[in-house]
Amino acid sequence: MSARILLTGAAGFIGSHVTASLLARGDEVVGLDNFDPYYSPSRKWEHVEAVRGGPGAARFRLVQGDVRDRGLLAGLFAERFDAVVHLAALAGVRSSVERPHDYAEVNIGGTLNVLEAARRGEVRNMVLISTSSAYGNASPPFVETDPADRPLSPYAAAKRAAEMLCHSYHHVHGLSCSVLRLFTAYGPRNRPDMMAFKVLDSIFTGREIPLFGDGEMVRDWTYVEDVARGIVAAIDRPLGYEIINLGHGHPVRLREFIESIEKLAGRKANLVPAPRMSSDALATGADITKARRLLGFEPRVSLREGVESLFRWYVERLDRQSAANLRQPSRLGVAHGK
Ligand SMILES: NC(=O)c1ccc[n+]([C@@H]2O[C@H](COP(=O)([O-])OP(=O)(O)OC[C@H]3O[C@@H](n4cnc5c(N)ncnc54)[C@H](O)[C@@H]3O)[C@@H](O)[C@H]2O)c1
Repeated sequence: MSARILLTGAAGFIGSHVTASLLARGDEVVGLDNFDPYYSPSRKWEHVEAVRGGPGAARFRLVQGDVRDRGLLAGLFAERFDAVVHLAALAGVRSSVERPHDYAEVNIGGTLNVLEAARRGEVRNMVLISTSSAYGNASPPFVETDPADRPLSPYAAAKRAAEMLCHSYHHVHGLSCSVLRLFTAYGPRNRPDMMAFKVLDSIFTGREIPLFGDGEMVRDWTYVEDVARGIVAAIDRPLGYEIINLGHGHPVRLREFIESIEKLAGRKANLVPAPRMSSDALATGADITKARRLLGFEPRVSLREGVESLFRWYVERLDRQSAANLRQPSRLGVAHGK
């Protein structure tokens, strides 16, 4: 049976994939996003256009608005939803060190607003998208029972606080809330501030990018469509309150990840060594036993396949941009009345 779902952060990298998956299987999706300028809103419009060009687009409605706006949320939730997926957030670990108040307001305050509106709107199930950063510098593989009380950045601390707010709403109001801790996602529509995108950009433009910690940091790169599948599985299963890792389960060194992209491109990225930031974890790695058990989650896309797909998307996007630039009359031409 199809469901009505409210998805915050719908214009983002992961949000656009989850929206597309839900529409493709017949659900109705109301997407909320404020097109925050952390990275270019025009990219987010590209994401929305991709969703609007896909199957089931007639069942998609986009609402431009902010999760800090309680009145807006109250009005939206009066519409009745079967589930809410809360992805909207400021998502940069390093930028949270520069803008801690913004991170607290959006990632904690915004989550509280969504929880309050959801319980007043009698929503059955909420899925909060959290992060492996909650584990701090714990030793991988991370298990959900590991203490997560030493966050390394305001971003991680705010996400952990949001997780705990979910628990309190479950406890007091009986709202079912699954907290999914995502590990480094990558793939088509990749966020431009993330390493996967920066490496491609550097390969194609020659732009310098910092290689933090000599490329020795380890990350559990997870293909975005696997992530979307896990989120959809959580939407379908109200579980009470559970924290669940959603990762690939095969951590890889940053240097190896970069090399796999360089190999495909046949060119090197312009990497400049830089010290690891104290806000970055040394290593991440997911134990996904619980996701397998509770969500039937099984990652399907290998790192090789995922990187190929990321690469294809990047090159096709570049081609589309070049074609669009060629179609535009040059400024000189316009000035001379050609
Ligand atoms: N990408 C990853 O590897 C990763 C890893 C762990 C967790 N996460 C989490 O997954 C979620 C999605 O991340 P993403 O990589 O797609 O990032 P993203 O920045 O592409 O998406 C987030 C979206 O939220 C929107 N947003 C921000 N503030 C808002 C506000 N106040 N009101 C309404 N909308 C707002 C943004 O405009 C954006 O479209 C985030 O919660 C992030 O913390 C991502």
